[in-house]
Amino acid sequence: MSLLFQSIQFGSLKLSNKIVIAPMCQYSATDQGEISYWHEEQWANYALSGAGLCIVEATAVQAKGRISYADVGLWNDVQRDQIKAVLAKVKTISPMPFAIQLAHAGRKASTDKPWDGRGQLPPNHAQGWQTVSASEIGFNPTDHPPHALTKTEIQVIIADFASAAKRAVEAGFDLIEIHAAHGYLLHQFMSPLSNHREDEYGGSFENRIRFTVAVFQAIQHAVPKGFPIGIRISATDWMESDQAWNVESSIELSKVLEALGIDYIHVSSGGLHAQQDIKIGAHYQVPFATAIKNHVKIPVITVGLITEAEQAEQILQSGEADAIGLARAILYDPRWPWHAAAQLGETIAIAPQYLRCQPYGLKALFKAFT
Ligand SMILES: Cc1cc2nc3c(=O)[nH]c(=O)nc-3n(C[C@H](O)[C@H](O)[C@H](O)COP(=O)(O)O)c2cc1C
Repeated sequence: MSLLFQSIQFGSLKLSNKIVIAPMCQYSATDQGEISYWHEEQWANYALSGAGLCIVEATAVQAKGRISYADVGLWNDVQRDQIKAVLAKVKTISPMPFAIQLAHAGRKASTDKPWDGRGQLPPNHAQGWQTVSASEIGFNPTDHPPHALTKTEIQVIIADFASAAKRAVEAGFDLIEIHAAHGYLLHQFMSPLSNHREDEYGGSFENRIRFTVAVFQAIQHAVPKGFPIGIRISATDWMESDQAWNVESSIELSKVLEALGIDYIHVSSGGLHAQQDIKIGAHYQVPFATAIKNHVKIPVITVGLITEAEQAEQILQSGEADAIGLARAILYDPRWPWHAAAQLGETIAIAPQYLRCQPYGLKALFKAFT
């Protein structure tokens, strides 16, 4: 039997298989951070994919924390109620659990939609705003410099993560993922390249992870006891500098969060520095997941250029990671889990309405959702 199609626990949440749909911004919300018909269609599509879990896109805990003016938000009850209504509908067609990724973009906020191509919009632009960060250092030298958060402002953001987490539970999500990767706000505090602070949020490793740890603990307090919470991190800044955040830092952070009760680590990389030198290729982030997995007992998700069923299965068989995140491959082929099950000789649970499309010769491929 394949490992990919065996169940896995993320804390109290059981996934029917180890395929995780990674979070993907859709830049399709209203300028009030409210979801649109696009999200309804997307989530329903994911719900029928056969994956074990879908993590909904980076969702801002503050208006200023959006990457773009078209990002989803969860800083008010209207946003929550709209999500709740759509999630309730989607859950009538599939038992697949849904997670939400809670985020603050920090200095990488206030951008245009990627396909409109205007990049970061300055504060005096109608669709832009003043960004914030650990220090007044822009991602690009040409960016309008971010405002360095005061300690009081940090506390407000921690409280906003907690409020958004409470709303996420009320909306019907089954798990919360904290976005601490890709050079967004929490990562900006963790990497010495973007954090030049001299207070208790800067300097030592313990100080730089303080914000992330506080966000996790605030969320833990805001949600029901035992509600599953995971974190996505960038394992490395992909910078030669000995000042950069690296795998050793990620291992130490993972150990701290595991001791505090986090349920999984989702291991990505990069996004912090404009001069990053990513050695990209199939499997390129798997060794980071393995390095972390060697130091924690909680599940570790690997992600990044995993496109083939055999590749995913091999990663699990060799013990390099515990679960497989898929982003672009599942956008390209939303039935990736069906095709993976066919290739690995597995049976996959699907909507009963689709049972009759089982290909001739694959008599044991499908069973109905229960
Ligand atoms: C369209 C798109 C949107 C993305 N949005 C997010 C996001 O909201 N949060 C996040 O952590 N990563 C985001 N990512 C990164 C993916 O989750 C994933 O880590 C990355 O694409 C590598 O995996 P892949 O090779 O399977 O695509 C996004 C990627 C794509 C292609």
